[in-house]
Amino acid sequence: MIKNKKLITFKIPATSANIGSGFDSVGLALNLYNEIHIYENDNSKKIEFEIFGEGENEISKKDNMIYSAMKLVFKKLKSKPNKGYIIKCINRIPLSRGLGSSSAAIIGGLLCSNFILGNKLKIEKDILNMAVQIEGHPDNVAPAILGGIVSGVVKKEEDFKYIKIKPPKNLKAIVSIPDFYLSTEIARNILPKEITRKDAIFNISRAALLTSALFSNRLDLLEIATEDKIHQDYRAKFIPNLNQLFKETKKAGAYSVTISGAGSSILALAKDDKNIIEKVSKAMHSSFKKKNINSVIKVLNIPTKGIIIN
Ligand code: HSE
Repeated sequence: MIKNKKLITFKIPATSANIGSGFDSVGLALNLYNEIHIYENDNSKKIEFEIFGEGENEISKKDNMIYSAMKLVFKKLKSKPNKGYIIKCINRIPLSRGLGSSSAAIIGGLLCSNFILGNKLKIEKDILNMAVQIEGHPDNVAPAILGGIVSGVVKKEEDFKYIKIKPPKNLKAIVSIPDFYLSTEIARNILPKEITRKDAIFNISRAALLTSALFSNRLDLLEIATEDKIHQDYRAKFIPNLNQLFKETKKAGAYSVTISGAGSSILALAKDDKNIIEKVSKAMHSSFKKKNINSVIKVLNIPTKGIIIN
């Protein structure tokens, strides 16, 4: 129990990137949050970490992603804190499962330093820019910061151009989180460096359909709009029974089912209907179980707001 004075809390949501066809370009926020609480440090002039929840036994309390991101802000602003702080992390986003845990850590670190140095950076501009640079692609960090479904985060000079899509009503995100890690680096390295024009057109047309279907509430189009030829088939070798899982989840009534980010989790989008949610959850769970893989199913919402500060 920390007795020092609490200064601020950041809640950063989990995210699911790609949604099939929108590789590296589309992502959505999920109402599963990592919390970061900053306290004054009465005993030391240092920044000290306390880590609870996901990764509490794996994440270093000295040299972690949050601290690395914090140091980049100190460097950018050419300034350092003149007091000590305790940074308490309550992690709920599972690590290395394609749910944006690293984006949440990066954003969390940038927010902490920005707060400590007097909020000189604009969150939706400077912090978004820095987070995309660190992460290398925008499809997790953008929805984590902005909330909702974020489409086409394109860099134009020092700015990002994107459209935030309000999540359609009655849409649930059912996430299956298997009990194995998948490194994003490995899941990216397996992808071919070049793709054919045919595959590019396949994805571009579907990604265009995906965003317009979401805008116009044509959820019946999500199945075809999330089809993909440029990443999921290559990644299937890391996710046992993936094709069967896709088939059974759709048969159970999901609008769409895709690998969440680079995996290993799976995202199904489905109507907010008790019966459908139950069937979809069962199908996702039993598909992994057939390969002796345990999984946790979470039924989540797509929050319209991203990071929450209080
Ligand atoms: N768009 C990225 C990928 C998300 O699929 O590799 C993972 O961080």
